[in-house]
Amino acid sequence: MTNVRRALLASAIVFTAGLCLDTQIVSAPAVAAGSDQRTEIILDAAERDVMLAGMRTYLESVQGIVAALAENHPDRVASIAAKSGNKLLQTVSPLTAAKLPLAFMSMSFDTHDKFDKLAARAAKTASRSEVLSDLRDILGNCTSCHMSFRAVAPK
Ligand code: HEC
Repeated sequence: MTNVRRALLASAIVFTAGLCLDTQIVSAPAVAAGSDQRTEIILDAAERDVMLAGMRTYLESVQGIVAALAENHPDRVASIAAKSGNKLLQTVSPLTAAKLPLAFMSMSFDTHDKFDKLAARAAKTASRSEVLSDLRDILGNCTSCHMSFRAVAPK
């Protein structure tokens, strides 16, 4: 993920936010009928596929990092964590990013950053407890985003 691309994704979001304010189409977050009160992330099928594939990569990284620690192979952590770093954002188009709520995008950027930081730390010499602390913080992001948002198709 280059800084230029990241800036492009971020400016797409800011631009859309401005557009929404200008045209007064900002509305309260859509709430699903039933008991699921999470904010809806509305993406078409192809965009949703890209997002969910990214999620599965996240899960594989978490599983791989835990396995590396359990099997006493801390040397494997850096490359596994890097798979979920900012380079994963290369699959996201700026147009998709523009549809996503700011809170969602900032949590997404922060999660990719955390994986890159863990990769950098583990590439030097990270202790088991340092890796676990980073993983705790990463899983904190997974949990809070999942508590706040859900993905739905356009109506
Ligand atoms: C920025 C928000 C956000 C973050 C951070 C996030 N997720 Fe998700 N994730 C979602 C949303 C939204 C869905 C769709 C869930 C739904 O519709 O109920 C999802 C779905 C998933 C799925 C289901 C994939 C599929 O194929 O259906 C997995 C697995 C997953 N996330 C794992 C993770 C893991 C592991 C992390 C942390 C490393 C994480 N996610 C971080 C928002 C997020």
